[in-house]
Amino acid sequence: THEWLAEQRGPVCPVHTAWGWPSYLITGYEDARAALTDPRVSKNNQGAHELMAAKLGEENLGAGFGELLSANMLNSDPPDHTRLRKLVNKAFTSRTVARLRPRVEEITGELLDEMARHEQLDLMAAFALPLPITVICELLGVRPEDRGEFSGWSNTLLSGGGEEPAVIEDAAARMQGYLVKLVEDKRVEPAEDLLSELVQATDEGDALSEQELVGMAFLLLVAGHETTVNLIGNATLALLRAPDQAAKLRAEPSLLPGAVEEFLRFDGPINIATIRYTTEDVAVGGTTIPAGEFVRVSLLAANRDEGRFPDPADLDVTRPAGGHLAFGHGIHYCVGAPLARLEAEVALGSLLNRFPDLALAVPEEQLRYRSSTLVHGLRELPVRLGAAR
Ligand code: HEM
Repeated sequence: THEWLAEQRGPVCPVHTAWGWPSYLITGYEDARAALTDPRVSKNNQGAHELMAAKLGEENLGAGFGELLSANMLNSDPPDHTRLRKLVNKAFTSRTVARLRPRVEEITGELLDEMARHEQLDLMAAFALPLPITVICELLGVRPEDRGEFSGWSNTLLSGGGEEPAVIEDAAARMQGYLVKLVEDKRVEPAEDLLSELVQATDEGDALSEQELVGMAFLLLVAGHETTVNLIGNATLALLRAPDQAAKLRAEPSLLPGAVEEFLRFDGPINIATIRYTTEDVAVGGTTIPAGEFVRVSLLAANRDEGRFPDPADLDVTRPAGGHLAFGHGIHYCVGAPLARLEAEVALGSLLNRFPDLALAVPEEQLRYRSSTLVHGLRELPVRLGAAR
């Protein structure tokens, strides 16, 4: 992916994407930041749908997520976006999230104990995936017995064209049915979880429609685990490829928070930010993108822009942290960033500490990435664990 994106690098270049519809791909760091904060580059769900229908014809739109699931804050502009975001902002501040640390450490410890019984395993399935799923499902109140099925639908929905439209539509319908019922259950029997709080806020007149509630649950649950999984996976692979960097982290754990920022920059979990479109002509670099065009911003490419990050293809856990675009930028900047950082820090620190001889169990050429233009992550990461500490 990185090589391909590097080849595309220019201020901006029109491309035809894997999904078969034309869009402008932005790859430079400054241009990416500018596009992500430009109010003329919209994320309005309805507008995007109409534009797509006008370009492709209603009959060629392919699989959608359905109205209930698509209507969420990530697919809206102010003032709707401002209202929706305010409702969940405080659940994810650094201070609130810090209280989750003991539970994140506990889940991590249990997973590592289980892993220690094996000589070799797939780190994605055994570790990178269950940690964020458990945390976000506990936070929102998804029952443990439902998590496997839920994760399967989510995986299908984010396959980004890798699945047949009928398969995607089926997963969307099941997910929607499940979430409508979950919201209803929380209304009848509220518990100590974020979804129950949101249902109560709605009932007390905080202006969240039923549709918005389902959309919010969907967004938080999917965004809350599909991404952090891949941060843990991509970072582990990066460390296996750069043992000198892993040794530095083992010797000096205080480097971990900064290292997590470097993992996000070096090989982040989101390839191209979610879709946007121009409502007016917008000049980007030397090019004018006319009104009514789809715009894609490559976060992976922007984070490897040598104009912003010297020697961008080198992993350096001591690099000055910050400035990367892995969590996006502007009003849609990831609301879950503090949670993702906490999970990654605990997961990677504990993994390095517990398994000093962790090694890849297959030749690198055998590693495969998920088929998605959105999510950048491994299908599997087979590792040999060595002796556990
Ligand atoms: C938005 C990345 C973890 C919830 C975003 C965006 C990015 C991103 C790039 C902006 C997308 C755009 O503008 O098109 C990541 C990465 C994560 C992560 C790399 C992990 C390493 C999480 C977690 C949550 C979460 C744990 C859980 C709550 C959200 C939500 C939005 C969002 C709700 C939409 C915010 C808005 O529209 O204002 N994330 N995310 N993310 N993320 Fe995350």
